[in-house]
Amino acid sequence: EKGGYDHFMLKEIYEQPKAVKDTLSPRLNRHNEIKLDDISLTKEDLERFNQVYIIACGTAYHAGLLGKSLIQKYVNVPVIAEVGSEFRYNDPFIDEKSLMIVVSQSGETADTLAALRMAKERGARTLAVTNVVGSTISREADDVFYTWAGPEIAVASTKAYTTQLVSLALIALDMANKKGTISKEKFNELIEELRATPAQIEEILKMDESIKDVAKVITKAEHIFYIGRGIDYDVAREGSLKLKEISYIHSEAMAAGELKHGTIALIEDGTPVIALATQDRLYDKTVSNIKEVNARGAKIISLAKAKNTEISKSSDHVMYIPDISDDLSPILSVVPLQILAYHVATLRGADVDKPRNLAKSVTVE
Ligand code: M6R
Repeated sequence: EKGGYDHFMLKEIYEQPKAVKDTLSPRLNRHNEIKLDDISLTKEDLERFNQVYIIACGTAYHAGLLGKSLIQKYVNVPVIAEVGSEFRYNDPFIDEKSLMIVVSQSGETADTLAALRMAKERGARTLAVTNVVGSTISREADDVFYTWAGPEIAVASTKAYTTQLVSLALIALDMANKKGTISKEKFNELIEELRATPAQIEEILKMDESIKDVAKVITKAEHIFYIGRGIDYDVAREGSLKLKEISYIHSEAMAAGELKHGTIALIEDGTPVIALATQDRLYDKTVSNIKEVNARGAKIISLAKAKNTEISKSSDHVMYIPDISDDLSPILSVVPLQILAYHVATLRGADVDKPRNLAKSVTVE
């Protein structure tokens, strides 16, 4: 049932090109039109919302952070992304002018479900992005958008995350198009980019062996830092979560610009730092942060677009991803981080499919 792979996690990492394609294809036609038959939001609805909430937990929350960036940028509406367990108790301002998007692979996560119910009670419109047909969240939300990732067995979420990213991108682009807040040109450009991602993920999967070599370098580390700016910071959080949940190495994701406000004190000779530098508009800033930690002896593993080879001068190792816009980069940049976490964990002898203390679906608060 693992299809020849040692673990479900690895199988699911390798299923991503197909999962992403399955999520995209039924929603796009030949003319680059998005058809979200499952979502009934109208132009009038979109004009009415003055606030969007994106609520989720764990990996689904990290996917939600991309939704936040894209909706804020292209739909021109403020977005708050928050984890379910915080949102519920933070006296949120939410009313009939709000749209709540919940993201949940299982569709059963207690805190996400509670947030959804709270939104409905306050008269907000709700939209669920979930992978499980018939799940509680899918039944209770006003609209449902399914990620067609197929069953995800491993506790560490991989293909659910990439399909959530793609789903949120489609939703954001469709909203922007309906509301008239995106140019036709930009819209087409991003759709074409989405279409290219399955083949690009396939390319990244070919780096498996070389990423394993990088994993060997950090297998014995006690602490690992992930740094990045903007959308890279969101992906850094996902990479860090992946590593800690299956390898049990303490890891932390930091906004690269925040390092010098405290965390840089922890960098010593040999401390591994995974530096995400895939954002063109923030590239120089991130490289200067890399140099700062490099000067304190950090072992730098960078993640960059293929065109930025000069980053190797300030890095011990570099993992390259194919060229993609900043907006959609997480769909690619997370993949080397998943593979890295997988190899570090297996090299340490951990059971990656059943990490200690964790359940696949968290149905208690
Ligand atoms: O089923 P959900 O997407 O609602 O689950 C949310 C989190 O529990 C889940 O993503 C968790 O963080 C994973 N173990 C991460 O790999």
